[in-house]
Amino acid sequence: MNGEMSAYEQLQAELKAAPRTWLVTGVAGFIGSNLLESLLKLDQRVVGLDNFATGHKMNLEEVEGLVSPAQWARFRFQEGDIGDLAACEAACAGVDFVLHEAALGSVPLSMIDPVCAHRSNVTGFLNMLIAARDAKVKRLVYASSSAIYGDDPGLPAVEQRSGKPLSPYAATKAINEVYAQSFAQAYGFPSIGLRYFNVFGPRQDPEGAYAAVIPKWIAALLKREPVHINGDGETSRDFCFVANVVQANLLAATTGIPGAANEAYNVALGQRTTLNGLFHSLQDVLRSKDATLPSQAPIYRDFRAGDVRHSLADISKARRLLGFAPSHDIHAGLDLAMDWYRQNLG
Ligand SMILES: NC(=O)c1ccc[n+]([C@@H]2O[C@H](COP(=O)([O-])OP(=O)(O)OC[C@H]3O[C@@H](n4cnc5c(N)ncnc54)[C@H](O)[C@@H]3O)[C@@H](O)[C@H]2O)c1
Repeated sequence: MNGEMSAYEQLQAELKAAPRTWLVTGVAGFIGSNLLESLLKLDQRVVGLDNFATGHKMNLEEVEGLVSPAQWARFRFQEGDIGDLAACEAACAGVDFVLHEAALGSVPLSMIDPVCAHRSNVTGFLNMLIAARDAKVKRLVYASSSAIYGDDPGLPAVEQRSGKPLSPYAATKAINEVYAQSFAQAYGFPSIGLRYFNVFGPRQDPEGAYAAVIPKWIAALLKREPVHINGDGETSRDFCFVANVVQANLLAATTGIPGAANEAYNVALGQRTTLNGLFHSLQDVLRSKDATLPSQAPIYRDFRAGDVRHSLADISKARRLLGFAPSHDIHAGLDLAMDWYRQNLG
């Protein structure tokens, strides 16, 4: 064992030497396709499940272009819905680890159609737990969310304290954690929940009414369109580059540290950025890459109902029990994300 190596570097070397079989649900989405790319680059065998509710074939095609033909040959895609238990069972066959990302991730959409959100996020989650348990999967790692902190004003957010869920979406993620705990107690089936804070990076969808702030603003700046800030811009978030999320997933699937399984972890950077600060960073970096882009001032409008004022994670639990050590700060992440949007938005 090399004392110089981080837990993640060591894990990557181990996986390359002894490849495993992974199921990534939501594989055609933003985070799922980034997991797929990293796993294939480590020569892993990957099964992917998606129903293209919000994901895109284009994301899979892009990953195909980023890995070797031999690596791509280790990927099997299954089009299917996690609301269908048989689809989950077929996808879990012969799998060592499940990385469960499939869900409807939009808070506003869950406010409009909570039944639809429930079907993917709760019924689908339960189906995945059943299928993974019955297939004797070693561990299921699943996407929880910072949304479960709800109305708790305490900052930074620590895992043992949470508030009232502010949306049906937040409720679905809180229910996931309860179901996961019940499967550990009732059947001894191990899982780990990762409470992602605002994730960003390549392949995050900039289109549509529910687009996240970073892709939406980068797209607007590149198209020379106005950027709108909800509120006074002093709202803050703990923005996390997707490579850090990939790292957390692989570590969570494999960690052998006693007490690490059947827990939930914050996955973030542990740093707070205001929307005003974000806007100026994006504009400065984009204009340094393309001097023809005009300098613009953001347009302030009303606060959006249901948005929390500040969000910031304490990531010491993930550092301690998963060996998590974020590789990309917000600036390094934004730089990579912006290069991707510049290439892909034309
Ligand atoms: N992006 C973030 O900032 C963030 C923050 C917290 C939690 N999360 C969670 O992370 C996960 C991935 O989010 P993302 O940002 O990559 O979103 P995404 O919409 O890009 O990806 C979700 C994928 O799941 C698929 N999917 C949805 N319902 C499905 C179903 N019933 N059956 C099969 N596939 C289905 C979609 O088609 C899509 O490809 C989600 O569970 C989301 O709630 C994301």
